[in-house]
Amino acid sequence: MTDWDLDLERASSAALAALAGAATVDELEAAAAAATGKRSPLASLQRSLGAAEPAERRRRGAQIQAARARLELAAAQRRDELLASERTAWLAADALDLGDVIVTNRPWSVTMGHGGLIPAVQAELEDVFVAMGFQVAEGPEVETDWYNFEALNIPPAHPARGLWDTFYVDLGEPETIVLRTHTSPTQVHLMEQAVATGTLPIHSVMPGRCYRRDTPDARHLATFHQVEGLVVDRGITFADLAGVIETFTRAFFGPDIQSRLRPGYFPFTEPSAEFEITCTICRGAGCRTCSHTGWIELGGCGMMDPDVFAAVGIDPDEWSGFAFGFGIDRCAQMRAGIADLRALTDNDVRFLEQFS
Ligand code: PHE
Repeated sequence: MTDWDLDLERASSAALAALAGAATVDELEAAAAAATGKRSPLASLQRSLGAAEPAERRRRGAQIQAARARLELAAAQRRDELLASERTAWLAADALDLGDVIVTNRPWSVTMGHGGLIPAVQAELEDVFVAMGFQVAEGPEVETDWYNFEALNIPPAHPARGLWDTFYVDLGEPETIVLRTHTSPTQVHLMEQAVATGTLPIHSVMPGRCYRRDTPDARHLATFHQVEGLVVDRGITFADLAGVIETFTRAFFGPDIQSRLRPGYFPFTEPSAEFEITCTICRGAGCRTCSHTGWIELGGCGMMDPDVFAAVGIDPDEWSGFAFGFGIDRCAQMRAGIADLRALTDNDVRFLEQFS
């Protein structure tokens, strides 16, 4: 082996050691340049070839090519190793600890649904009455004629039945099972239960869905919602009823909406009144929604009729009370300023999206 071969051998093994010892990709690139670049020992050995005999020159040239190929291969292998471990370290440093959550791409946007206006208003009404000391109760939507009419002092063929355009259910004797036309039958259930269990007095509100053969218009739907109120206690007067109605109106609609009671008629209350509030659409000026009166009827109310107490076995000498019932849909309409109630059943998302 000549001195030249020894020089090449030393330069190659020093360069291989430097490549193997590189700890980062930057160090590796520097070591690779030092091993095979223009200023490397390999380059100066190559430059010295011109001084050699032609045959020796070819032999040394081939040696240099082989050494260069070996160094380039070693550099490439070390580069791959370093890139792989740098990537692993980068991934570990960048990872988010998401527990069991699987993160996927969401290529389209998802529109979330939400509760409707009527259930939201019903919950708010319940809150107002619960704050005033009432309990919340519910009753069936399909009733017998007795609960919907007779116990409420509306016997068969009574002209007052005309006030409620009834849907009859095809069950049992004709015209004995009805879709309830108001929430008042739930009053009867509550009074019966309280008598049976000896748990009078009653201070309850009863929200729920009702049905009437009404032709839908700006203020009426054939399927609608009412909230019934019932107080049965000792020494209850009409002033208590008026106070509850007024307190409710201010709590739910705000101080600038007024309520008023006008004489009315219901077979199960005496005296009876109709309960109206300032139209919130026109603030009392008169508009299409309030038929240009400035007032909107919310519902009815009155003192419990002794005949109803008799039907459920409550002693009218010991107990007195009042009841009221009004439309939840109408409240929603007045609060949200909906000129035509039929918008609630049109299923137009541009309308529904406003009430989330
Ligand atoms: N049930 C009556 C209606 O639907 C309203 C009402 C309830 C009236 C309670 C008086 C007392 O019209």
